[in-house]
Amino acid sequence: MIKYLALTAAVALGLGSGVALAAGKAGKVVNYDFSFEGPFGTYDQMQLQRGLQVYTEICSACHGLQYVPLRTLGDPGGPGLPEDQVRAYSEFYEVFDPTLFDGEGDFRAATPNDHFPGSQMSTAPDLSLMAKARAGFHGPYGLGINQFFLGMGGAEYIASLLTGYTGEEKEEAGAILYENTAFPGGWISMAPPLWGDDVFYEDGTEATLEQASKDVSAFLMWTAEPKMMARKQAGFTGVLMLGILAALLYLTNKRIWAPVKRAAKQQQPAE
Ligand code: HEC
Repeated sequence: MIKYLALTAAVALGLGSGVALAAGKAGKVVNYDFSFEGPFGTYDQMQLQRGLQVYTEICSACHGLQYVPLRTLGDPGGPGLPEDQVRAYSEFYEVFDPTLFDGEGDFRAATPNDHFPGSQMSTAPDLSLMAKARAGFHGPYGLGINQFFLGMGGAEYIASLLTGYTGEEKEEAGAILYENTAFPGGWISMAPPLWGDDVFYEDGTEATLEQASKDVSAFLMWTAEPKMMARKQAGFTGVLMLGILAALLYLTNKRIWAPVKRAAKQQQPAE
């Protein structure tokens, strides 16, 4: 049995390192603090609004958010924009509407019922779910250990990516690659999008490179998991109910068996 277990463990470890090798050099992810970490963490509405601003003014030039409905910008727990602002913001984008022009289709200004447009640049991935897609692959052998123990997920990865440029460039097969300490493999084809002071924040926050990176990462965490706060609340209620139920079951159990125990004690021969 022990031999069999040892063999299984060896095979599992072997496979693990094989996967790690195939993934290439893992990037370095910084353990940034975010308000939504931990079992009671919540999104910071002002931070989500700042992140939306960074996304709009910088990232949306290349990246899309095609799975995110524009109306959710007004949802509680999200950036929480007032209705008129959601409408005004939507009109900023153009979407293709196939019903216009007698079925030939034409572009029109977006409304809150539309989604964000997709990526403008074919090689830039859609960012709607990126914060979830890149979560949990950090730490030894991609087991998600750092995510489990340090709460490090996709938001940390994105913030580390945006702050992780070393300034080195190289040309490979006609494309320019930029050295980045967070990107697996170390070289990414995205030019550094943020340098510090790229946006002007209305709320007085200083738009340093790290601040803007964290803000847009928090916003992308929200797009990937807009119901996180509701989920945590439901989980907390669930744990509380289970706790009460467990206490009641314990007391009921004691009560049901009490006469039996009493009888057993009385039958014990006196020593
Ligand atoms: C000039 C176009 C451009 C801009 C602006 C831009 N990106 Fe990118 N981005 C790209 C390209 C191209 C890739 C694909 C890089 C690769 O796979 O080598 C990419 C990849 C990414 C990735 C995925 C990395 C991975 O692990 O695969 C993230 C996350 C990302 N960008 C975030 C952002 C954020 C946040 C912003 C705004 C602050 C931004 N990008 C602005 C072009 C851009």
